[in-house]
Amino acid sequence: MKLIISFSFFYLLFHVVHAYTFLDYIKPNFTASHFQFIDNNSGTFLLSQNRTFEAAIFNPGGQQTSLYLCVIHAASSSVVWSANRDNPISEFGIMNLTINGIVIVDEDGDVKWSTPPLRSLVDRLVLNEMGNLVLLDQSNVSLWESFQHPTDTIVIGQRLPIGTWLSSAASDSDLSAGNYNLTITASDAILQWYGQDYWKLSTDTKAYKNSNDMVEYMEINRTGFYLFGHDGVVPVFVVSFPLSDFRIAKLAISGQFVISSFSGTDWNREFVGPGDGCQIPLACGRVGLCNDKSSTPVCSCPPDFYVGSGNYSGCVPSNGSYSLPNACNSNDSQSNSSVVSFLKLGYGVEYFHNFYSDPVMLGVNVSVCKDLCSRNCSCLGVFYKNSSDSCYTVENELGSIISSDEGEDNMLGFIKVIVASTTTDDDDQTSQKNGFPVAASVLLPITGIIIIVSLVFLSCRRMKVSKAQDVQLGKSISHSSSNDMDAFYIPGLPRRFDYEELEDATDNFKTLIGSGGFGSVYRGVLSDNTVVAVKKIINIGIQGKKDFCTEIGVIGNTYHANLVKLKGFCAQGRHRLLVYEYMNRGSLDRTLFGTGPVLEWQERSEVALGTARGLAYLHSGCEQKIIHCDIKPENILLQDQFQAKISDFGLSKFLSPEQSGLFTTMRGTRGYLAPEWLTNSAISEKTDVYSFGMVLLELVSGRKNCYFRSNSHSVDDGNSGGGHSSNSSTTGLVYFPLFALEMHEQGNYLELADQRLEGRVTNDEVEKLVRIALCCVHEEPAIRPNMVAVVGILEGEIPSPQPRIESLNFLRFYGRRFTEASMIAEESEYNCILNQQGRNSTSQNSFSYISSETVSGPR
Ligand SMILES: *[C@@H]1O[C@H](CO)[C@@H](O)[C@H](O)[C@H]1NC(C)=O
Ligand SMILES: *[C@@H]1O[C@H](CO)[C@@H](O)[C@H](O)[C@H]1NC(C)=O
Ligand SMILES: *[C@@H]1O[C@H](CO)[C@@H](O)[C@H](O)[C@H]1NC(C)=O
Ligand SMILES: *[C@@H]1O[C@H](CO)[C@@H](O)[C@H](O)[C@H]1NC(C)=O
Ligand SMILES: *[C@@H]1O[C@H](CO)[C@@H](O)[C@H](O)[C@H]1NC(C)=O
Ligand SMILES: *[C@@H]1O[C@H](CO)[C@@H](O)[C@H](O)[C@H]1NC(C)=O
Ligand SMILES: *[C@@H]1O[C@H](CO)[C@@H](O)[C@H](O)[C@H]1NC(C)=O
Ligand SMILES: *[C@@H]1O[C@H](CO)[C@@H](O)[C@H](O)[C@H]1NC(C)=O
Ligand SMILES: *[C@@H]1O[C@H](CO)[C@@H](O)[C@H](O)[C@H]1NC(C)=O
Ligand SMILES: *[C@@H]1O[C@H](CO)[C@@H](O)[C@H](O)[C@H]1NC(C)=O
Ligand SMILES: *[C@@H]1O[C@H](CO)[C@@H](O)[C@H](O)[C@H]1NC(C)=O
Repeated sequence: MKLIISFSFFYLLFHVVHAYTFLDYIKPNFTASHFQFIDNNSGTFLLSQNRTFEAAIFNPGGQQTSLYLCVIHAASSSVVWSANRDNPISEFGIMNLTINGIVIVDEDGDVKWSTPPLRSLVDRLVLNEMGNLVLLDQSNVSLWESFQHPTDTIVIGQRLPIGTWLSSAASDSDLSAGNYNLTITASDAILQWYGQDYWKLSTDTKAYKNSNDMVEYMEINRTGFYLFGHDGVVPVFVVSFPLSDFRIAKLAISGQFVISSFSGTDWNREFVGPGDGCQIPLACGRVGLCNDKSSTPVCSCPPDFYVGSGNYSGCVPSNGSYSLPNACNSNDSQSNSSVVSFLKLGYGVEYFHNFYSDPVMLGVNVSVCKDLCSRNCSCLGVFYKNSSDSCYTVENELGSIISSDEGEDNMLGFIKVIVASTTTDDDDQTSQKNGFPVAASVLLPITGIIIIVSLVFLSCRRMKVSKAQDVQLGKSISHSSSNDMDAFYIPGLPRRFDYEELEDATDNFKTLIGSGGFGSVYRGVLSDNTVVAVKKIINIGIQGKKDFCTEIGVIGNTYHANLVKLKGFCAQGRHRLLVYEYMNRGSLDRTLFGTGPVLEWQERSEVALGTARGLAYLHSGCEQKIIHCDIKPENILLQDQFQAKISDFGLSKFLSPEQSGLFTTMRGTRGYLAPEWLTNSAISEKTDVYSFGMVLLELVSGRKNCYFRSNSHSVDDGNSGGGHSSNSSTTGLVYFPLFALEMHEQGNYLELADQRLEGRVTNDEVEKLVRIALCCVHEEPAIRPNMVAVVGILEGEIPSPQPRIESLNFLRFYGRRFTEASMIAEESEYNCILNQQGRNSTSQNSFSYISSETVSGPR
């Protein structure tokens, strides 16, 4: 059964029509699907004349569920337009081009998107060099253009006319319209969030006003960013940039309007609005207090609020009897019977929208202002300026609060709360977590540890605020905030470092000693002269701070001789860093595959045993089961005497499907991925066992499991070669696990051992490791041994098991892909261990046994 499934899977992957990618235009009666074009740049079916842009049925962020018809800038792999952003299709959905236009249909036949009725019949669909997808009729008249339907981006040559808008995407993988809008008005370009302005071009210091004409459209070109009047000659507003051939203006997921140019390798941010990070509506989540005296915003919670949990990225009232009101029309709140109250934010606060709006009332006192808000269910808070007796309200949605230095302004803030009729849920504060987004869902809830006890700073700040009768205190409050503000206490948390401290320790991140899916690792020396490895984690949003600390609590509490010890961490502003003990011999891949002294057999056995012990501990020895998800030589570090320690454990929890980092990691690691990643089977600790088996085989051979053997450095001349009896030549791709299976069947184990060991290892010794390895890579997870058993076998307490051939036949499928592939390409040494990121590498996908597009993240 399993065999049939894998077979049809491979059939789909490799035997569908190898559709040809079109250049410049396509003619009607054309159908494209993601699968059809998967071999060529992930669904690209049309390229512009000079290949600057491509049209594709594409799955942004590496996820597998939401595909879009996109226009992509090829060199930077950025999506600049999508047709069906609010109605994605599955990977089996299709796009049809007919004489009546374009239709996007899901696998069940539902029409998800289509072009409107057109004036005449379509002759062809053109993707031009500016990135405009155009339907032309027979007389070359344009019937429809993607440029007229912008999503979140405009490119050079595209106009955004008055009355139209850009909407941010919801996330990197979900292109649906998010909550931020950039609108062009007759006099300005305005950013809005739920109807609240948070930036205007006219008030941005970088913009220069050139004329008083009415604005007609927005445009960027190779030298600047403009709002033009009707003549299109004299711009109304100008922001000038250095000459660049490719530039985009995009309303980013964060809500910032960003103009960047692309140099061919890197993006260069040229303009960001709002430039002040705390002016972004959700800079610190709902009710989060944003302080940006340093260059990056630092978030904390106002007095009487604490860090919310779960989905909730922001602050909630610390008194469990209070809750923040929901939207007007929902039943559960603000009914006539509920009691409304206000929590005081104190002085020295601001709200982003107040900078762009007028007070709703003037010359009233603060209680009138609050009354107004109490009566209106769409009002969520008030700000009151003593100096002018003016009242501002927050409507529809409540964003972050800005911690302001300008105490003289006398701005007071109040957040509306609903008082619960019963007062029994004080425990709410300790309620936890919706479960981790990824592999972590397999893990047990870790209630005992993750309870957020309380905010350490709350008590002391509350005292200050209650004394805060005079304006000056506003200052001292915001000063105290930058330090202890974002300290929340989680038991088990290792030492917390300041970002500056780590910057010093690493000499400004000077010495890079490694990098991977989670970020880059730098060598550092702490003030007490301890040498450490500092990992700078990427792809974690600022909202993740509490979840981050929770996981750090777990990792920090996990001690074992074969696990790299976490010494501390830093979660400051947007920075997320981990400080590990320094491992002087680096990672296993360098020692094993490198050119240095060869690793002796005894040392290899020790590395295998150490790694197995570390994994066994993660799976069953510590308080919570931890599935590593990314076992590979790069994540096995060595210390003196070849003591192996596993690194990066616990980190897979930080990844969510939205964070493309996961898929980047998976791409980098596909050689070690268990087959269940391809199917819907659950990811379990047996997934790590599979990866361990693959590492074991590499320990045996001293090479990557897939390598390209050429004549010149052929090491096994004269034998049957490569494991492929059909292949008489001595060059080609070798898929070592299959070779190992064949040699196992022949009992010829010595053939598998690293040639550099030159007889310093016996057939029996190799047999033991190979048999364990083959058992670990059984296709059926249930019949893989667990890591405790593997440790027992390695130690010799349990006899070597007999691999089950019927659960290893899948290797023959994988292997066959390699031989076929090796006939297509010569420079394929890295094909099965693709480590490039991004779509550009996908032309090599056709002969990796797992296509990156089919890897689904752990759920
Ligand atoms: C893939 O795209 C390239 C151009 O980028 C083209 O030359 C090649 O023929 C395409 N291959 C297939 C199978 O469509
Ligand atoms: C496309 O299909 C329609 C209807 O099936 C047919 O009338 C038309 O001739 C076809 N056009 C081309 C260019 O093949
Ligand atoms: C395509 O590239 C050629 C050569 O670089 C250039 O001369 C031509 O202008 C380009 N065409 C377009 C439409 O940009
Ligand atoms: C799309 O095209 C395919 C193949 O040409 C055809 O079978 C299918 O009916 C078309 N679907 C729609 C909705 O036009
Ligand atoms: C339409 O444009 C194409 C390509 O630019 C050209 O070959 C063709 O002659 C044009 N047709 C008409 C009717 O202008
Ligand atoms: C964005 O603007 C459009 C048009 O004004 C509006 O329909 C849409 O609701 C806005 N979205 C948000 C989140 O404000
Ligand atoms: C960009 O537009 C401005 C305003 O029209 C114009 O002065 C400038 O020359 C343009 N730059 C380029 C490279 O075309
Ligand atoms: C959490 O987020 C998910 C996805 O964004 C959503 O479906 C779910 O309803 C949210 N849960 C709560 C309690 O808001
Ligand atoms: C929470 O608020 C309620 C209602 O105002 C109050 O009676 C109670 O004392 C407060 N609890 C704490 C712990 O402050
Ligand atoms: C509110 O409650 C009423 C009656 O209980 C129900 O019919 C209605 O659907 C609810 N509305 C919402 C938005 O939940
Ligand atoms: C509140 O009560 C008034 C009068 O009893 C009623 O008209 C109104 O609809 C009620 N509002 C809500 C939100 O229940």
